Amino acid sequence: MTGNNLAIIILAAGQGTRMRSRLPKVLHQIGGRPLVGHVLTTAGRLEAEHVEVVVRHERDQVVAALEKDYPAAVFIDQDEVPGTGRAVQVAVDALPADFDGDVLVLSGDCPLADADTLRSFLDAHRAAEAEATLMTAVVDDPTGYGRVIRDADGGVDRVVEQKDATADEAAVSEINAGMYVFRVATLRKYLPSVGVDNAQGEMYLTDVPGLLRRDGSRVAASVVSDVTVTYGVNDRAQLAEVGRLLNRRIVRRWQLEGVTVIDPATTWIDDDATLAPDVTILPNTHILRATTIAEGAIIGPDTTLVDCEVGADAIVRRTDATLAVIGAEATVGPFSFLRPGTVLGARGKIGAYVETKNAEIGEGSKVPHLSYVGDATIGRGVNLGASTITANYDDVNKHRTVVEDEVHTGSHTTLVAPVRLGAGAKTGAGAVVRKDVPAGSLAMSVAPQRNIEGWVEKNRAGTGAADAAARTRVAE
Ligand code: UD1
Ligand code: CA
Repeated sequence: MTGNNLAIIILAAGQGTRMRSRLPKVLHQIGGRPLVGHVLTTAGRLEAEHVEVVVRHERDQVVAALEKDYPAAVFIDQDEVPGTGRAVQVAVDALPADFDGDVLVLSGDCPLADADTLRSFLDAHRAAEAEATLMTAVVDDPTGYGRVIRDADGGVDRVVEQKDATADEAAVSEINAGMYVFRVATLRKYLPSVGVDNAQGEMYLTDVPGLLRRDGSRVAASVVSDVTVTYGVNDRAQLAEVGRLLNRRIVRRWQLEGVTVIDPATTWIDDDATLAPDVTILPNTHILRATTIAEGAIIGPDTTLVDCEVGADAIVRRTDATLAVIGAEATVGPFSFLRPGTVLGARGKIGAYVETKNAEIGEGSKVPHLSYVGDATIGRGVNLGASTITANYDDVNKHRTVVEDEVHTGSHTTLVAPVRLGAGAKTGAGAVVRKDVPAGSLAMSVAPQRNIEGWVEKNRAGTGAADAAARTRVAE
């Protein structure tokens, strides 16, 4: 266990100019959380004594986005001195003076380094008894990264930033991943000697390994075999690529837990979602935020669920739902829109072109076609006829509709809220229900039908309708 004697410093003070965004880079999201949120989640798994996030650019926005979800993190403000070396220095200065352990430095823009990778990295550092250990990777295209320069014995000599590299140094394909472990005493000793005499005029954290070597101290390197764990986000193309890699990892995790995912490339599952064994996900489906899906449910195709709870063996197809609860064995879709507060009971049905909001729909009740059900409590065994609409809004306030057990409404019923339909009541087709309906009553509001015979031939002579009517009359 890595637990004790460990501090984690997450660098998140930079602007992220290459994102060309109003939003600070580290707050851009993949897998349902900000980039730096993934780093904080992973940091949480390492059970460090201290977790510090260094902020500066849009610091209030960054802190506000994180403090609720990561209460253990301490936010440290970087001053006007730029560079990763300064960022680490202010964070080290904020650690208790008696902290004497290791410091794991991570970047807020590198979200793919998982806890297992970081644990092995820490173990490698401790086994090597080095002053510092760098995570490195050998890549096809090292552009943009610091290069790891080795000495004649193959040990780490120093790191050179791309902008300061000679042509020979730039040709090196081993890169600095931007993740490090240092003994805290090493940082306290060497950071004050790091200057800003370089191409970017910044205090480079990457100067520390070279300074250590000048003093004859040991710097270790831990070369990762899966280079994707080192991928950082500097622009929007990398944001999409890193997001895709994270998603692939999440999908694979659920597949190994017994979830059938027909098309991983078009299935997007957020990190916070939970899926049970024998769930089936059909193509083009987004399972977002804290959605949970119980055993045997079939979701998709073309479905988006945000913060939803889906019961066992439910079927949800071509549906858009947010903050909705779908009961066991219920069916939803196609083309259904479930807004927040929808609760569909077990074996219930919400069908084609139905929108629901703040609506509790009881066990076995059906809203099969073309309806709007908002601010309503619907009992058990209810059937709302096609195009039944709750008129819940009087232009000023929202009102509730209550439909008790076993009510059946006729097609095109309008329920003008506030209104209550008693148990077992029925409505005629086209009814506009403005008054409560007592249990067991039939509510009718449409005027009796009148047929005026011969009207078409008399008033629409010469039209196709009149001719057709005439032919029918002759045939009789
Ligand atoms: C850095 C490394 C480089 C490495 C690469 C790996 C340095 C000097 N260079 O370069 O060797 O290959 O990461 O991804 O460290 N930050 C601050 N304060 C600052 C500047 C940056 O907190 O003053 C934060 C940023 O928000 C970011 C991280 O540090 O999360 C890295 O900064 P960035 O500018 O992206 O460094 P790179 O150029 O990628
Ligand atoms: Ca970077």
